[in-house]
Amino acid sequence: MNKPLGVTVIRHIVDSQRLHPEATGDLSGLLNELIVAGKTISAEVNMAGLADILGMSGKTNIQGEKVQKLDEFANNTIKKRMARCGYLCVMTSEEEDDIIPVEDGYEGKYTLAFDPLDGSTNIDVNVNIGTIFSVHRRRTKWGQGGWEDMLQRGRDQVAAGYILYGSSTMLVFTTGEGVQGFTLDPSVGEFYLSHPDIRTPERSKYLSVNEGNSHYWPENVRRYIDALKEKDKEKGRPYSCRYIGSLVADFHRNLIAGGIFIYPRDNKDPEKPYGKLRLLYEAAPLAMLIEQAGGRAITDDGINILDITPDSLHQRVPLIIGSKLDVDEAEGYLG
Ligand code: AHG
Ligand code: MN
Ligand code: MN
Repeated sequence: MNKPLGVTVIRHIVDSQRLHPEATGDLSGLLNELIVAGKTISAEVNMAGLADILGMSGKTNIQGEKVQKLDEFANNTIKKRMARCGYLCVMTSEEEDDIIPVEDGYEGKYTLAFDPLDGSTNIDVNVNIGTIFSVHRRRTKWGQGGWEDMLQRGRDQVAAGYILYGSSTMLVFTTGEGVQGFTLDPSVGEFYLSHPDIRTPERSKYLSVNEGNSHYWPENVRRYIDALKEKDKEKGRPYSCRYIGSLVADFHRNLIAGGIFIYPRDNKDPEKPYGKLRLLYEAAPLAMLIEQAGGRAITDDGINILDITPDSLHQRVPLIIGSKLDVDEAEGYLG
């Protein structure tokens, strides 16, 4: 059977670049290197049960979380490849305390923030995990980049996306002109366009939240989440609860089928008053994607995620993200 001629990522970027004759091809070069890293991680994830790559690495990261071997593998794979891709001047990873320099002589005009493996607690139980990435244009003029290049608002991202390692490996990204989804054909090692111009449903079907934290939420957040569980035929409520503990997988399901994901602040740990999710490499890239797909992303006090200027690399933010009508309604409870 001759396979249909799939649209590869490069084909898609070249086609869209025709609309931008000024494009230098650097961003597509950067994405392409990220894709090679993603394919490498995907191959390892798919073999994780057989290779000696499950379980803990014995290390703890700046988040105070135990680092899984696959976290470390994914982090090193991306760091090594991107440090000499020639398109970046500085990087930040969830797994690294400080900014990551690129190789001297390979400085480029973009910055990269990434969560090498999101949903780590699911690695050993074969549940979807993923890599999340965020790209900005550098602010400094030349040489190695620094903190001022990394600490930029989500609104100023030039690209954002994720690679989801699941029943199939998918790449979903935006460069500000809609959201494109590609599926990996492992037999040829190519990502083909499978979900062009993704639009998220205006109204949710699913509620994604860790109810185990409900006693620690602010009162107005609890009232809003309770409202999503009340009978309301017109709004299709009560919503079904779907929460698998991998933000990237919960986000992807909600992006396609319609849903609202909520990780509010809680008073469980006075050290972490703003919840668990990080702005630079989780909330901001997903906020760009959801806005490009017609949805919204705010904090639990109604601030648009994309308007927050980070004050540190691993700053945490409460996150409410998903279908537009639901986030609009949430605002009424929270502002
Ligand atoms: P990471 O594995 O990169 O640390 O991220 C895990 C995050 C996110 O993926 C998920 O939504 C959330 O942790 C789950 O947190 P809880 O277990 O507290 O619900
Ligand atoms: Mn994560
Ligand atoms: Mn992670």
